[in-house]
Amino acid sequence: METTQVKKLKNFINGEWKEPSTEKSTKVYNPANSETLAEVPLSNARDVKAAAAAAVSAQKKWALVPAPQRAEVLYKTGLIMKEKKEHLARLLTMENGKVIEEARGEVQEGIDMAFYMAGEGRRLFGQTTPSELKDKFAMSVRAPVGVVGIITPWNFPIAIATWKSFPAIVAGNAVIWKPATETPLMAFELAGILHEAGLPEGVLNVVFGSGSTVGEAMIEEDVIRVISFTGSNEVGRNIAGKCGSRLKKVSLEMGGKNGVIVMDDADLSLAAEGILWSAFGTSGQRCTACSRVMVHENVKKELEDRLVQAAAKLTIGNGLDESIKVGPIINRGGLEKIQNYVDIGKSEGAKLLTGGSVMDKGALKNGCYFAPTIFTDVTPGMRIAREEIFGPVVSLISVKNFEEAVDINNQVEFGLSSSIFTKDVNKVFAAQRDLDTGIVYINAGTTGAEIHLPFGGTKGTGNGHRDSGVAALDVFTEWKAVYVDFSGRLQRAQIDVEEGS
Ligand code: UN1
Repeated sequence: METTQVKKLKNFINGEWKEPSTEKSTKVYNPANSETLAEVPLSNARDVKAAAAAAVSAQKKWALVPAPQRAEVLYKTGLIMKEKKEHLARLLTMENGKVIEEARGEVQEGIDMAFYMAGEGRRLFGQTTPSELKDKFAMSVRAPVGVVGIITPWNFPIAIATWKSFPAIVAGNAVIWKPATETPLMAFELAGILHEAGLPEGVLNVVFGSGSTVGEAMIEEDVIRVISFTGSNEVGRNIAGKCGSRLKKVSLEMGGKNGVIVMDDADLSLAAEGILWSAFGTSGQRCTACSRVMVHENVKKELEDRLVQAAAKLTIGNGLDESIKVGPIINRGGLEKIQNYVDIGKSEGAKLLTGGSVMDKGALKNGCYFAPTIFTDVTPGMRIAREEIFGPVVSLISVKNFEEAVDINNQVEFGLSSSIFTKDVNKVFAAQRDLDTGIVYINAGTTGAEIHLPFGGTKGTGNGHRDSGVAALDVFTEWKAVYVDFSGRLQRAQIDVEEGS
């Protein structure tokens, strides 16, 4: 056993671990075996106030540190994360359940983001542009917003935290971070690492607690000028509504109902592998998980057979065991939601090919496991084909041609990721143009986003902002236009332009 003693966590405010102002707390369980890992405080608005006060004074100084020096802290953070990669990955598997290979991948995503954003410290490019007047210089620069709030989910507790906090930090902001209560250990570790790397006190503050208390207090706190959130559509809409009237900038990354299109000229072995990885990796608990397959009718039967055979080979269990391919679901609530959707699918007339139930026998008895599940003969109107399940459930929909597949893909409320398997170059280019999602894959599944490209989606997935890539800097900076007049006289734009000059 890796941890025998239960950690009682505290908030991280102004560079110190501080007791929260309430006695309330909740337990953190390992979903693989229900072992208690930690106790996490349920803080309140007073704790958010304390974090805000620390952040305001820290940010003023942090913004004046040259960006390349701010970046050095992230570079060191990346080095420390690299050193601690295995430790972080094991802890991540314990609190989240994802298999160790994926946990290592997630930590690597954080390391990559540290080095990438460290590089941004020497860019943070603005623009220079000619003025319409003589002896006048014009440019735009990125200015920090000030204090920003980030709210992160349990499914990628370290990667998504780095996607949001690292660009905010390199741009000269101070951060107040509310991690998911299910996975606080990654927050505990990351805050410690940033501190060890030399991040000044108050630049990153962690307040543990519920969305309804800590999250709401962050929305109400005037000094927090941006809220960046990844999580459910319902919560995201609530945040956007409340922040709207307060004129706070909001960046939302919410659900998906990601589709894979398999054409009749596709390499079916590759398609099956890609579908399996994106449908059942992280037990289907990714925003980018594949949950629909629009398959050409000519190859439907063959794809079904390949998927069922491959699913039968997946090993289910505690993700710390290297031979395990699919780990547990985050908690019992998650299991119930998935089971409910499977029951809905059956009652809607979908045909269950494999899986469909909780696994609680033998070594799995104390954990939260759900069998990888494949439905076929699904129609686009069924709830299992439209709503986000967030579990290892994938639905096959038969299509007659490319146009019908794209049309079905675009009918859902979400628009995060999509993919197509085909060898036809014309369909490849038409698909990347016509699939209405923020991310499109060709001849790969729907997961696997890289950190230097924008991450996010259209329609119900977000509100036009992106995590990752240079786009992340847009969330955490204000554009400032600067005009320098060196003519020595008052020149009036739009009025004093000499005709014909
Ligand atoms: C998420 O599920 O919110 O592309 C993040 C991917 C991962 C990140 C997923 N790199 O699936």
